[in-house]
Amino acid sequence: MNREHSDTIRPIRFHQGELQLLDQRRLPGENLWQRYRDAPAVAAAIRDMVVRGAPAIGITAGFGVVLACQRAIGQDDWRASIAADIETLRAARPTAVNLFWALDRMQALVDASPSAEAAVAATQVEAEWMLESDIAGNRRLGALGARLIEPGQGVLTHCNTGSLATGGYGTALGVIRAAWDAGRIEEVFADETRPWLQGSRLTAWELVHDGIPVQVLCEGAAASLLRSGRVGWVIVGADRIAANGDTANKIGTYGLALLARAHGVRFMVAAPVATIDFEMPDGTGIPIEQRGEDEVLALAGQRVAAEGARGYNPAFDVTPAELIDAIVTERGVVEAPTAERLAALREPTAPETLASAH
Ligand code: MRU
Repeated sequence: MNREHSDTIRPIRFHQGELQLLDQRRLPGENLWQRYRDAPAVAAAIRDMVVRGAPAIGITAGFGVVLACQRAIGQDDWRASIAADIETLRAARPTAVNLFWALDRMQALVDASPSAEAAVAATQVEAEWMLESDIAGNRRLGALGARLIEPGQGVLTHCNTGSLATGGYGTALGVIRAAWDAGRIEEVFADETRPWLQGSRLTAWELVHDGIPVQVLCEGAAASLLRSGRVGWVIVGADRIAANGDTANKIGTYGLALLARAHGVRFMVAAPVATIDFEMPDGTGIPIEQRGEDEVLALAGQRVAAEGARGYNPAFDVTPAELIDAIVTERGVVEAPTAERLAALREPTAPETLASAH
């Protein structure tokens, strides 16, 4: 079996003052690139799921600020123009903290710039750094996470955490790529991930594209799969990790963590340090995005639920830290996460393994 990976998918491009996004609503049927020249359109793209996944949202918003700076050139109150665009980007989606992380960094660069032209230059360097360092960080956390996986079993993942959800390579899917390449994984299972089908449309597309066999399951099949003994680790990403390790991620993640604990399967969260919100003491304060009822009541624009039924559509849930065996970041692995152990990741020189070795 071919265990070489090809890591060719890059969903975010910036070229000659234009942001280009691979439209994730159209995959896997169509490779359609959307083009953007102003920040409000980028905010709409984030809200409408052209681009999604916490790190990809942050990077995209970063380039959105470059566009805001370009648009402000020649305006009397160029700072106010950029500030208004940043506020519009900030309102695009509430849960992924990477959005606010990126915008805060961009705002600081704008504040330090003497002119809109200078702000364009500074923010473009920063956005390009965010994109490249995200990919490099994902390769590193992928390698660290892969080392935790004892060969001989399968893994189960949820939503899409791959190249499409990041600058490239992926977080949880980066761990899976690295572990597959190292021969540590027997089989990969991907939850379909209702209602947006990030698992069956996006994760399956990426894995097939990169030559890694994948089996897609309905979320309802996860309990019996975990009971079967075929899965050693559930591996997921994160939209926001509170300071104590409580983790907000795609709706259904909490249920998977409970199932994993009930069946003696280990549970890994893979995310860059930018996804940790050190100002949020625990998961109870994380804002959970509620999306439109139609996403649940209809499929591909066609209503499937009985007329008159209402929809309940939280996009994320929070998994308590005590259900998480390891949080894997580019700066190191934190096993059995606590606030104290996670705090060590704030130091750039944090050692590779912060909790006691297993
Ligand atoms: O609603 P989405 O598709 O943006 O949700 C994405 C997730 O929940 C991912 O697991 C998370 O953002 C991590 S992506 C590396």
